[in-house]
Amino acid sequence: MSEEFEPKILAYCCQWCSYAAADLAGSMRLQYPPNVRIIRVPCTGRVDMLYLLRAIEDGADGVFLSGCLLDDCHYVNGNYKALKRVEKVKGMLEALGIEPGRVEMYFNSSAMGPQFAQTCIDFTERIRKLGPLYPQPRQAAVGA
Ligand code: FES
Repeated sequence: MSEEFEPKILAYCCQWCSYAAADLAGSMRLQYPPNVRIIRVPCTGRVDMLYLLRAIEDGADGVFLSGCLLDDCHYVNGNYKALKRVEKVKGMLEALGIEPGRVEMYFNSSAMGPQFAQTCIDFTERIRKLGPLYPQPRQAAVGA
């Protein structure tokens, strides 16, 4: 008997656009996987590479950032900085033998509730296909 793998996913969303998009998705009653846990940040430019690596180290199967559309960051270029950091972290993961696709950067404006929901659906499906990052604890054998 095999249980379907339910990935643990962390999403850092900037408060101005992507967090508002998540709110809009909720107001529109759009469904997206409960696997995604959202952390609101002032700007994706505030997310240090260590936040991404620490999330992976602490058991997340995937992490993504969702910020304002490029050139629409409320702090000028925070999302560009975040994009660069995500690319660096992907390189680090690859060097460690971990699939770089477990980390991603997305851009969703506050009006993009449906796109945000789709981002969550697509990323969850991607991580589900990659499988668990850490081996799952084995079920105790009955009667053993
Ligand atoms: Fe949204 Fe910078 S304020 S990414």
